[in-house]
Amino acid sequence: MPALSSLAATPAALAGAASPHIVVSGVDKRFAVPGGEIVALKDIDLTINRGEFVCLLGPSGCGKSTLLNAIAGFSPPSRGAITVEGRAVRDPGPDRGMVFQEYALFPWMTVADNIAFGLEIKGMSRAQIEPKVAELLAMLKLAEFRDRFPKDLSGGMRQRVAIARVLALDSPVMLMDEPFGALDALTRRSLQDELLRIWAATGKTIVFVTHSIEESIYLADRIVVLTYRPGTIKQDIRVELPRPRDSSSSAFNTLKRDLGALVTAEQHRFEEVEVKGLTTD
Ligand SMILES: Nc1ncnc2c1ncn2[C@@H]1O[C@H](COP(=O)(O)OP(=O)(O)O)[C@@H](O)[C@H]1O
Ligand SMILES: [Mg+2]
Repeated sequence: MPALSSLAATPAALAGAASPHIVVSGVDKRFAVPGGEIVALKDIDLTINRGEFVCLLGPSGCGKSTLLNAIAGFSPPSRGAITVEGRAVRDPGPDRGMVFQEYALFPWMTVADNIAFGLEIKGMSRAQIEPKVAELLAMLKLAEFRDRFPKDLSGGMRQRVAIARVLALDSPVMLMDEPFGALDALTRRSLQDELLRIWAATGKTIVFVTHSIEESIYLADRIVVLTYRPGTIKQDIRVELPRPRDSSSSAFNTLKRDLGALVTAEQHRFEEVEVKGLTTD
């Protein structure tokens, strides 16, 4: 029965097969420093599928930002290649939005103008921009703050504006470098929930850097644990816990303990090199 067997052969396609969105192949990144070089990334091979939420996890100095910046096109690899949507990454592009830990907002612009900025650069008309900004203000619960300036907002609110600015550009890929790292625990959880809601609604591919084990388990489909110098992939773990995730569940805490052991080993190496001043490069 050929019809049946061919159907049986394509269930993944029918269910929306995993399709590669970001492909990192054989990537190294070296930085020249006085007296030698630092190997920040070594032999990184990583395929991130469309719509996946991937966390890059590891202690300080293991190359998380370096890898994210290479995907963003800010800083090219020393070796290897990165493609997004099948195209080689050479520069930053509108297909990849970046959210940093520091709120990269224009202090002289209101919340609404900060969000509208990228749309104006794109050449959209006022009539097109207004409804888009209104939609984003509503989505990030910022409507009543639209005429405020960044200095008059809390850290959490400023980060909501930063996320809205990136969402305004409609990039299919969202790159986030410890975006909630400076926030208190409650604000952080509420922004994590907000981000998960937006991710579910938009189907974006998200690469999220964090050194928080708990944050990575709460958010990610996959957690990529990096080693400390050189930065390599230590483990690539699929998180199967149902969403919304309960951080007090025993499955959550088992994973937290296992990841803790992996990350702590790298943290010790970081401390040996950077705190005690030994060098391994
Ligand atoms: N521009 C640079 N010049 C020299 N060394 C750098 C530079 N950027 C990063 N590094 C080094 O590369 C390693 C990885 O850095 P980074 O990607 O910032 O780590 P992470 O984001 O995981 O904390 C660190 O040892 C860091 O000191
Ligand atoms: Mg970093």
